[in-house]
Amino acid sequence: MDAQLTTLLDELATFGDTHDSDAAKHNTRMLNITPDTGEFLAVLVKTMGARRILEIGTSNGYSTLWLADAAGATGTVTTVERSPAKIVLARDNFARAGLAARIDQREGDAGAILRELDDGAYDLLFLDSLRSAYLAWWPELQRVLRPGGLLVVDNATSHPQDMADFTAAVRADSGFTTSLVPVGKGEFLAVKA
Ligand SMILES: C[S@@+](CC[C@H](N)C(=O)[O-])C[C@H]1O[C@@H](n2cnc3c(N)ncnc32)[C@H](O)[C@@H]1O
Repeated sequence: MDAQLTTLLDELATFGDTHDSDAAKHNTRMLNITPDTGEFLAVLVKTMGARRILEIGTSNGYSTLWLADAAGATGTVTTVERSPAKIVLARDNFARAGLAARIDQREGDAGAILRELDDGAYDLLFLDSLRSAYLAWWPELQRVLRPGGLLVVDNATSHPQDMADFTAAVRADSGFTTSLVPVGKGEFLAVKA
């Protein structure tokens, strides 16, 4: 990673921590992944050689930048967000990072946008959004992931109850091999057969 992007990611991590700790800004929290989760995602992307990445839950684009940098010049990250204000923040951050050309921002409800995406279109899917909806989204998540593709779900140890129905369904699916990794807020991994 180049020094300029490292500096920007450090700045965004500090901004997220400061902003989110201000109770008055509770409803606009960034809720970014932790820096060690960013490192973990980068290792996964590079290990798999993932080029087509889908992220559900952009916020201001902190995690997107980790994914887009790791995907390299031939990679693309499609990232979905429903908050117009966060989409603007993310767009600015992608431009500052010089990574806008490899990031496709989609605005709207993830459930609706998922239905528009092609079968098997993604090597890696990062899910960091509305946890209560994950089970309802599961059929579409499975459909858009290519065989051998990897699903990564954030908050698996910080908020396990919020997604217990979903993780149980994935674990019960013989078409997926799963693992819970205690990095950051907990990453639930599921690789498609
Ligand atoms: C935890 S934050 C994402 C943080 C981001 N991945 C990062 O680490 O920088 C979750 C985001 O999902 C968005 N979101 C929640 N429900 C959504 C939905 N149904 N469709 C699209 N975005 C949604 C929220 O607006 C919020 O910005």
